Amino acid sequence: MKTLGEFIIEKQSEFPHATGELTALISAIKLGAKIINRDINKAGLIDILGENGESNIQGEKQMKLDVFANETLKAALEARGVIAGIASEEEDNLVIFGKDRATEGKYVVLMDPLDGSSNIDVNVSVGTIFSIYHRITKIGTPVTEQDFMQPGHKQVAAGYIIYGSSTMLVYTTGCGVNAFTYDPSIGVFCLARENLQFPQLGTTYSINEGYYSKFPKGVKKYIKYCQEEDETTHRPYTSRYIGSLVSDFHRNLLKGGIYIYPSTAQYPNGKLRLLYEANPIAFLAEQAGGKATDGFRRILDIEPQQLHQRTPYFVGVKSMVDDADRFMAENQD
Ligand code: AHG
Ligand code: MN
Ligand code: MN
Repeated sequence: MKTLGEFIIEKQSEFPHATGELTALISAIKLGAKIINRDINKAGLIDILGENGESNIQGEKQMKLDVFANETLKAALEARGVIAGIASEEEDNLVIFGKDRATEGKYVVLMDPLDGSSNIDVNVSVGTIFSIYHRITKIGTPVTEQDFMQPGHKQVAAGYIIYGSSTMLVYTTGCGVNAFTYDPSIGVFCLARENLQFPQLGTTYSINEGYYSKFPKGVKKYIKYCQEEDETTHRPYTSRYIGSLVSDFHRNLLKGGIYIYPSTAQYPNGKLRLLYEANPIAFLAEQAGGKATDGFRRILDIEPQQLHQRTPYFVGVKSMVDDADRFMAENQD
């Protein structure tokens, strides 16, 4: 048995100039995850279910647990002193730690504190997504928006926590994907899967088909392709959609599948946020041998223009995303 803490320290010694700061950062996330996990598990008992009556900057209703998860992670991250600041789906603006924005922190963290929060009231899995970058401005000088608006290929680490039938933390630092299962009886994340890879063959597709009539032509054709019979490619594929990216991605990573949230009439740029959702999951996907695009471009190459920017999203087994991209390229309306 190996714990997440032991695993990180073991890996850290493989980097000659490691100072332990990234280790401290990940253990802050680990602590935040344990607190969120505790409260999610007893959510029905302590009156933190339901909406809090406010909307976030993107006009989406905030749930009480969205706010709780955001505050918990923010506090855990600030306490470590190695982080210059955070950007969060639930914050209108950047949150810079330290006096006069000129912190010594070397890293910035971007996060979706609670993903799939509309599922929380009905006891379905939710998640937390995090994305970590080195700041590009000089340490000791004020942190700027530029530190947060880096393309995804600059991430130094990324991951998610899934609060499911068991709670797992899955992360990468660019050397493969590792997964840890939380044992609540001892309060420790234990190594479950080292160097996790997508299966070669995927047979699950995940998309909110209720919006079918609003999808681009390429997506409609790809869905029909998934449903057609063909022995060599094991079609028809199975359809599975939970409605929380973390849970849908986690299942597709283990079982082999593709997740799509394309542009729709309601969300012309897709619904998912580039910096808090698409980039970190894309980093994990590529590290697990998969692929992530916006239907045309590699997600990790997109230069962000706005903090809360959205993007259409195609992620999963490489051959499946290749197929979907081909349908997109051939059917531009
Ligand atoms: P969040 O709860 O952080 O706002 O994210 C919800 C996202 C994503 O996790 C999920 O896959 C998608 O929204 C579901 O959207 P639809 O209900 O439109 O399918
Ligand atoms: Mn989300
Ligand atoms: Mn969220």
